[in-house]
Amino acid sequence: MGKVAMLTGGGDCPGLNAVIAAATRTLEGAGLDAVGFLEGWKGPIEGNICDLNKKNTAHIIGTGGTILGTSRTNPYKKEGAVAKIKDNFKKLGIDALIAIGGEDTLGVATKLYAQEKMPVVGVPKTIDNDLSATDFTFGFDTAVNIATEAIDRVHTTAASHRRVLVVEVMGRHAGWIAAYAGICGDADVTLVPEVKANVDAIAATLKKNRSEGKKYNIVVVSEGVEFEQTGMVTQEKELDAFGHVRLGGVGDALAKMLEKATGYESRSMVLGHLQRGGNPSAFDRMLGTRFGVKAAQLVIAKDFGKMAALKGNDIVGVPLKDATGELKVLNDDFKNLVNLFSK
Ligand code: F6P
Repeated sequence: MGKVAMLTGGGDCPGLNAVIAAATRTLEGAGLDAVGFLEGWKGPIEGNICDLNKKNTAHIIGTGGTILGTSRTNPYKKEGAVAKIKDNFKKLGIDALIAIGGEDTLGVATKLYAQEKMPVVGVPKTIDNDLSATDFTFGFDTAVNIATEAIDRVHTTAASHRRVLVVEVMGRHAGWIAAYAGICGDADVTLVPEVKANVDAIAATLKKNRSEGKKYNIVVVSEGVEFEQTGMVTQEKELDAFGHVRLGGVGDALAKMLEKATGYESRSMVLGHLQRGGNPSAFDRMLGTRFGVKAAQLVIAKDFGKMAALKGNDIVGVPLKDATGELKVLNDDFKNLVNLFSK
């Protein structure tokens, strides 16, 4: 074993640079060379790499995004791409790969390991926190803190204008960001994709709150929420390379429906990519760092087909396929919690 590559794929996420720095330091400490493939799976397909070392990964732990760049490239949707990856591994002398990503990136890593016998390990990343086999993904804590702070701030403006303020958060088909930010930001109603929403029921809750003396309302809605009346709101009909719809716009649609149903002046706010931007929280820096060290250790031990995961407060190696087999959505405990704070 001489040269180990890493790549970051899918949506960027605070904490990626912490993983890169920690994996690089661990590999270097074991006498191995670290390199980075640029822009997700596009890097190994096109053979674009950069050197990584302790010096050029210094002082990146606190920065958002990824120094390697990212993309939503799916090698299994590009003619001849898997063969090109294998070819470039040989040409560039890559002995192992650390794939840092969410369900899509790790799904590709799982296939390359299982079908092509490639030496791959994974690191779970996503603000959505929807990966199975790990208690948390890094990026989630930062996103929740950004969303909670934003909700805290709109309380005063909603109160001053006696308005309904609908805050749309990300999370795709899992309600983790909405559940945490909605409850911690003290929303009147929090809507998650795991539970179909009904506009009349939400309007009735807001009216009840006002009859009890409340002068304004905050509603937190996850982008993937489906309404009994209108279904899911998507930005376009086409699916991306991994078969996902582009979500977004539900907040605006809901604010209009609520204004009509309640007569209360309503506004909406989309937090969007703000939730993925900027510096990672200390929690995400530490989780990313621990994941990076573990991934490098798995490579050094030639324990391929595994992913670094958080179980309790331990970092362990779990089979890669366990992470991507099933989406981790809100369990009944969290659904009940959301319901308790949405009445
Ligand atoms: O998976 C992370 C995520 O931020 C989702 O919450 C969101 O639906 C999606 O990525 C947005 O993707 P893009 O940055 O490609 O618009």
